Amino acid sequence: MSKLTVLKYPDERLRTVAKPIDSVDDALRATIDDMFETMYESQGVGLAATQVDVHRRLFIADCSEDQNEALVFINPEITKAEGHFANEEGCLSFPGVYAKVERAERITVTATDRNGEQFNLDAEGLLAICIQHEIDHLNGKLFVDYLSPLKQSRIRKKLEKEQRMNEKVGAES
Ligand code: NI
Repeated sequence: MSKLTVLKYPDERLRTVAKPIDSVDDALRATIDDMFETMYESQGVGLAATQVDVHRRLFIADCSEDQNEALVFINPEITKAEGHFANEEGCLSFPGVYAKVERAERITVTATDRNGEQFNLDAEGLLAICIQHEIDHLNGKLFVDYLSPLKQSRIRKKLEKEQRMNEKVGAES
């Protein structure tokens, strides 16, 4: 397993619409394992393939406290969504940025797991938010898209500045 590089906003590759996955093979499972290592090391609760520059319809999640409920969603589709729920969200592509976004409160999702088996899952709370956030990634949509243009431009400036500083530190050391 190896840790992957997570694309940071405003990288345009985060806007790519991911393509469906035809078959679940060992190469895909290796990507999934690398994504889990990357997500756990970064203390994230979800990671979409788009964020590691793999533009296929796949994301992983683990919203449990002990990080022992690893979930894999291949070709996910939300088949039912109910209610409204706003919660503070973060994203590994937006280090240090959190913002309140309104989502459906309860959802049903259908997807394929790492063994190629199809499954349905009813989710609410954090997991429901996470699933909606990650499916957005596969469609090139980001959680800041739900915010006002002013907030979006503040976040963009903050992250661009941090990236410039990181590059400078990298060049000097
Ligand atoms: Ni995200």
